[in-house]
Amino acid sequence: MKIPSSHTLIAKIFHWGFIILYTYGMVKQLDDLSQLEDAGLLYFEVVFSIIFLLIVIFRYLYMRKYKTFLGASKTVPMAHQYLAKVVHISMYLCLILLPLSGLCIAGLYTLGITRGLMQDFAVGLHEFSASLSYLLIIIHVVGAVYSRMKGEGIWTSMVPVWKEDKSSPHPKVKKLITWENELFKKLENYISSRKN
Ligand code: HEM
Ligand code: HEM
Repeated sequence: MKIPSSHTLIAKIFHWGFIILYTYGMVKQLDDLSQLEDAGLLYFEVVFSIIFLLIVIFRYLYMRKYKTFLGASKTVPMAHQYLAKVVHISMYLCLILLPLSGLCIAGLYTLGITRGLMQDFAVGLHEFSASLSYLLIIIHVVGAVYSRMKGEGIWTSMVPVWKEDKSSPHPKVKKLITWENELFKKLENYISSRKN
């Protein structure tokens, strides 16, 4: 099979279309449990969560056949690829936990459990996954911008604007790349020496 140098149109639609859904979910967030007294809102939240969950799962099933950094035009250190994979998988887990915990809140609420240990746990998990998703997305975007500065081709394979050009990176970025490569090499040597 020919390895594509850019993400497919479906991958891009999943990636960018999902951001709209995620942003909407974050904007429409509830302030507290008492809002669930509104049966219409409760129903809407449940339907929204199921759609959200299904999209995340379908996207994962579609994307898992493609390798991380598929558009890279340069060799990317193994440790860097590993880090990106960890962030991607963590984002998926977090974006599954967010609607799942929402559904738990709704389920418990429908059963009349509006307070207590179980409901507190579900709300805690919901808040935790929301906060973690912000953090992971920030790390992900910083990583993407850094890769753009290095001109690795990864940005251009997914992002339709501000495409990478062929010019050499800024001297300060070059210095950072050298430092980063040395660090990753040390890490790889350490891991392989532990394996031996
Ligand atoms: C809600 C916000 C975002 C989420 C949840 C997210 C999630 C992901 C995930 C899971 C991947 C791996 C491929 C996949 O499974 O689709 C990915 C790839 C990528 N994302 Fe994002 N992303 C977000 C926003 C952004 C933004 C704002 C940018 C750039 C400014 C960006 C740049 C990239 C790039 C360049 C790749 C390709 C990496 C590769 O080829 O492995 N993402 N994103
Ligand atoms: C059945 C579905 C859902 C229910 C019943 C539900 C319920 C709630 C409740 C009761 C709160 C307030 C928690 C508190 O007392 O602080 C909350 C907060 C929140 N929800 Fe949901 N939710 C659901 C789905 C979702 C989905 C799908 C998203 C995002 C895609 C989402 C995003 C948020 C966010 C960002 C917060 C604020 C968390 C924080 O304060 O840190 N919720 N939700």
